Amino acid sequence: MSVVEIVDHPLIQHKISLMRNRHTGTREFRDLVSEVAMLLCYEATRDLPTEEVEVETPICLARTKVLAGRKLALVPILRAGLGMVDGMLNLIPAAKVGHIGLYRNEETLQPVEYYCKLPKDIAEREVIVLDPMLATGGSASDAITQIKKHGARHIKFIGLIAAPEGLKTLHANHPDVDIYVGALDEKLNDNGYIVPGLGDAGDRIFGTK
Ligand code: PRP
Ligand code: URA
Repeated sequence: MSVVEIVDHPLIQHKISLMRNRHTGTREFRDLVSEVAMLLCYEATRDLPTEEVEVETPICLARTKVLAGRKLALVPILRAGLGMVDGMLNLIPAAKVGHIGLYRNEETLQPVEYYCKLPKDIAEREVIVLDPMLATGGSASDAITQIKKHGARHIKFIGLIAAPEGLKTLHANHPDVDIYVGALDEKLNDNGYIVPGLGDAGDRIFGTK
């Protein structure tokens, strides 16, 4: 049974509210994306397996736990997913990072793939796909289909804000994928933007509007 979790921790709610504000500038917005990604990473990695090891502390020998099991790979969906990578790497610095480039055709809202470079051993890794916005769910669904074609079977998705439509589509297309988002918004508007949302995440992260 896969997880679909809205991680409504007070810090996440506060930071997402700052991001929604149209007057929040590029630099602050970028920092907030990274900080919220780090908080979501903490929750999404809660089930990672651990094993006991022996450690000599300054006081005595102790049996304590360290991470065990599959290594991790992050796959941001370009462009906006890039903004989440640093925050994630703050907590899991040894993760490899693949990239999938997708943009939405503005009329059809269908994702168009233009780049894909994944770690060679992705099939053996626990994969976390990153994209701040889960709107129609088309981009995340296509990215995960592509990652599965490369053999990966253990995949999670982390997003900052989801529309109900996107959550439903992603879960229907990939029922095996655990989904973690910081907020579930009301709906999509006629242009496929999340309402109330925060506007175009890529433009706000990179200052391109
Ligand atoms: C945005 C966002 C997602 C996608 C979500 O990317 O970062 O990738 O839209 O929409 P969907 O769920 O309806 O597919 P965009 O196409 O604007 O490209 P960008 O990140 O390069 O700006
Ligand atoms: N992509 C964005 O960046 N924002 C939205 O609201 C929807 C898709």
